[in-house]
Amino acid sequence: GAGLGSALVGAHWPGLAQGTLAFPEPKLLPLRRLESGLVEASLAARESNLSIGGKPVTLLTYGGMPGPTLRLREGETVRLQFTNHLTQVTNLHLHGLHVSPEVDDPLAQIQPGQSRMYEFTVPKGSAGTYWYHPHIHGRVAEQLYAGLLGLIVVEGPVDAIPELREAEEHVLVLKDFAFSGSRIAPFTPMDWMNGKEGDLLTVNAVIRPTLRAQRGTLRLRILNASNARYYRLALENHPLYLIATDGGFVEKPVELRELLLAPGERAEVLIRLTQAGSFRLQALPYDRGAMMMHGGGMGMMNHQGMGGMSHGGEQSTLAMQGMMMGMGPSRLETLLTIVAPPNPKPLPLPTSLATVERLDLTKVAATRRFELGERMMQAEFFINGRMFDPGRVDVRARRGTLEVWELINKTDMDHPFHLHTYPFQVLSINGRPQPYRAWKDTVNLKKNDVVRIAIPFRDFIGTTVYHCHIVEHEDRGMMGVLQVE
Ligand code: C2O
Ligand code: CU
Repeated sequence: GAGLGSALVGAHWPGLAQGTLAFPEPKLLPLRRLESGLVEASLAARESNLSIGGKPVTLLTYGGMPGPTLRLREGETVRLQFTNHLTQVTNLHLHGLHVSPEVDDPLAQIQPGQSRMYEFTVPKGSAGTYWYHPHIHGRVAEQLYAGLLGLIVVEGPVDAIPELREAEEHVLVLKDFAFSGSRIAPFTPMDWMNGKEGDLLTVNAVIRPTLRAQRGTLRLRILNASNARYYRLALENHPLYLIATDGGFVEKPVELRELLLAPGERAEVLIRLTQAGSFRLQALPYDRGAMMMHGGGMGMMNHQGMGGMSHGGEQSTLAMQGMMMGMGPSRLETLLTIVAPPNPKPLPLPTSLATVERLDLTKVAATRRFELGERMMQAEFFINGRMFDPGRVDVRARRGTLEVWELINKTDMDHPFHLHTYPFQVLSINGRPQPYRAWKDTVNLKKNDVVRIAIPFRDFIGTTVYHCHIVEHEDRGMMGVLQVE
């Protein structure tokens, strides 16, 4: 967390039964598969009373934490009826799914008591792991942090290859929480600068669960659903074999010692259990660069609301006294324990997974530059010097063209850059070419990073957005409007 109260985790949650329960898999959203090939489902957002770490808590959810997994197949057409049972405006964003921005409209507003139909076709070749969450500018951080999120799993032909079909599959939704009593702790001025972290780390809303493997190969679909926490994942004694990124499968498994997941990112990994025993999946220390409170500043942090921040001036100057840059790295944390079966027999690794299109970079229609900026003390965030304005089009692109975007982070902290609607490939980071081809929708930029991405605007016209997925930064301006014509 932001360094406050991090020693309290164990002390506050003494009654935790760890490792005695079955692995907490999120529920599936019930689907009606009609003869016409249409799939119908409904989803609602509401206040929910749940228990986390043995404590009763009140969250905002889609009927569970995490929300029910929407498990779809490539090519099918889905009619998803979404209803807002909250007391505030919300909407639904299908993060990473390549569907029309008229459906996945980041500016849609669904008032309390209202419904909206989301009808879309799951693209061919999109087998992979996606997610959904609200997208009301100014409220994303609070609604997401409160629990409004769920997974979307797309199945495709590649899932039928034996090395995947016979693996034991689980989903891991990584999310931190900070509570004050049974409620989410109120957002502080610091939270609006850094993005809100919490000291309760959960996997599928359970603190440090145990996964007792039945088979020798695990396939984990992992989502970083935290507002701002980064997870640098490593499993004791085992490499992770990356098989899919945000936008689906890579060409063949990539062996990794560790996997960094920024907010919003997903990855699928295979784990080959070759020995009996228990192994911890850990989040290693990671320094994303953040402000921290120092000395006597802390009292003000607790009692000063957003009002003081947004008006700037004297109050915010006061609140910032004694603050300094450079929060130390996050601590080493155990997220999950994996228990291997006796004499595990892992499957061979798949030799080929997907064909990831090779983009023809001699046909680039436009190269654009996006510079991330911040005015930290005011908690204001920019792209190319401007805060988000829904009435302004920042980029006009043409359907059928390929563009290269150069993303530059001139701020003192990491920012995960997310583009809606159109999956992209990362070409290079600081001039270093990417070692493998993959479709992404979110890419992290460390301080001073220059990241080049290539985006084919193959289909869909309309208006969509790109933004930082530390959603506090998005709420506080770090978002732009893209219009594809
Ligand atoms: Cu997951 Cu525009 O966000
Ligand atoms: Cu950011």
